[in-house]
Amino acid sequence: VRSANGRLTLRLGAALGTVHIGGRSASALSFNGGIPGPTLRLKAGERLDVALHNGLDDPTNLHVHGLHVSPEGNGDNPFVMVEPGESFDYEYQLPADHPPGLYWYHPHHHGFVADQIFGGLYGAIIIDDPEPIDAARERVLIISDITLDGLGRIPAVSPMEQMMGREGQLVLVNGQANPRLSARPAERERWRIVNACVSRYLRLRLDGQRMQLLGIDSGRFGAPETVDEIVLAPGNRADLLVTMVDGTAVLETLPYDRGGPGGMMGGGERPRSGTPTGRASLATLTVAGEEVPAAPAVPAQPAPRDLRGRAVTARRELTFAMGMGGMMGGGGSMMTFTINGREFDPDRVDTTVEAGSVEEWTLRNTSPMDHPVHLHVWPMQIVESDGRAPDTAIWQDVVNVPARGQIRVRIAFDDFAGRSVYHCHILDHEDLGMMGVIEAR
Ligand code: C2O
Ligand code: CU
Ligand code: CU
Repeated sequence: VRSANGRLTLRLGAALGTVHIGGRSASALSFNGGIPGPTLRLKAGERLDVALHNGLDDPTNLHVHGLHVSPEGNGDNPFVMVEPGESFDYEYQLPADHPPGLYWYHPHHHGFVADQIFGGLYGAIIIDDPEPIDAARERVLIISDITLDGLGRIPAVSPMEQMMGREGQLVLVNGQANPRLSARPAERERWRIVNACVSRYLRLRLDGQRMQLLGIDSGRFGAPETVDEIVLAPGNRADLLVTMVDGTAVLETLPYDRGGPGGMMGGGERPRSGTPTGRASLATLTVAGEEVPAAPAVPAQPAPRDLRGRAVTARRELTFAMGMGGMMGGGGSMMTFTINGREFDPDRVDTTVEAGSVEEWTLRNTSPMDHPVHLHVWPMQIVESDGRAPDTAIWQDVVNVPARGQIRVRIAFDDFAGRSVYHCHILDHEDLGMMGVIEAR
């Protein structure tokens, strides 16, 4: 759906129903009856109005992941709760200098986020480039995973799967299993890829084709980078150019070891293993036919904004930890998921920042699994990872903090005041409490 006259207005109804997934009918959740929900296209400076109707049996709400918009009132307010049968009118005003790129929307009601996204509630948002890059076509590829039982229903998640972060047995592209794509030799396509999986990391390859990465999340590199492989944590997006080479290629995801609870569960030492993330083929691309003239060179991209020259007004540390909690029903132990020792409480402000200031945060992970850390509203610039500073400015809204590792980021709290959240984007961990409240004022 495209904006007109500076505005995009739509109704979005979340409901349980019958959808077609991988050639069979399944009972899943969807926005307006489709998986994924409609792709929304806007320009910087425009306004997005969404009337969300909750046709589910549980509370829900809507979050526009990565958009730099106000977190207050009817904006991107994660504290809104829409009860079953009720509606809510969201209004998102994009600033005139909003970065172009790929964003996405999904529910965000604490305690139900993983279930509702796993169930099928997600869609893409594109903010157009001021200067389009020449491409024969553009594809939006939303990658998600799901598990269906013999009757096409989603089985209930187990406490163990929640602690690990659930991964589905089927990996889907735009709700389809292994779709076929076709193109002609030398064509250039723009691929915009969302990792909408609840917990699965994607290590994407498209061997035999030429991939150039324009950027990750809302961040763009100064020049496109030629890559063989792209790693996307849950929530990350890739903005990619593919130049077609004759033949058949498979878009696949390779195994990624994101760690596991290891010895913490009392089940013996299992260092960095035990997560089911495996190899899967996602789509098959056939390139055949008459070769087209080569696409023109990619125009120079504006240099990314860099906060390393701006004064830092505060430094803080956020420690993401797993600990032993109480006992579960079956007598097994339950893990706790905390940030600076605390579980999420919507009525407590964990971090207060001054609107307009620049802060430097050290994101520390003391646990034996990776945590992809996400902050709403304000993007993060990575200034140190693995003990070294990147050469160019890298902007992301989900930053993976590896098991027992740390990452330093800078954040400019520009434009908006109000309350929002940061959390682990393994959404089971978020639902188990790994989320904090931030207030800019
Ligand atoms: Cu995509 Cu708060 O999340
Ligand atoms: Cu978000
Ligand atoms: Cu996590």
